[in-house]
Amino acid sequence: LASTDVELGPVAVGQAVTVMWRGKPIFIRHRTAKDIEEARAVPMSDLKDPATDQSRVQKEQWLVMIGICTHLGCIPLGQKPTDNKGQYDGWFCPCHGSAYDTSGRIRQGPAPRNLDIPPYTFTSDTKIRIG
Ligand code: FES
Repeated sequence: LASTDVELGPVAVGQAVTVMWRGKPIFIRHRTAKDIEEARAVPMSDLKDPATDQSRVQKEQWLVMIGICTHLGCIPLGQKPTDNKGQYDGWFCPCHGSAYDTSGRIRQGPAPRNLDIPPYTFTSDTKIRIG
């Protein structure tokens, strides 16, 4: 499928869903106020791959990313409530220990880059089209 439509309405604050797009897992997290605050409080000088949180989202509560570790391509943990999210409350890659923050930015471990953002558009307040 060239594009994937996702209905965000059922995804409660603090929840995450994974959908597939072109064979890749897409991580969507409905961020809490704390997630957003944490992401925005980080100084750029602390980041290996500096990017503002604002540059990584279209609406601050919705983080949409390609769920593939930028090190060697494992699928990070952090989508399920019981997952280890790593010490930055985002995602943790069990393969070699990369930790990503609540903006999906690399904070620790061997991954060289932040989790990638796929092309997507909001087609309504609660719907996105990926691709
Ligand atoms: Fe994720 Fe190596 S593949 S840390």
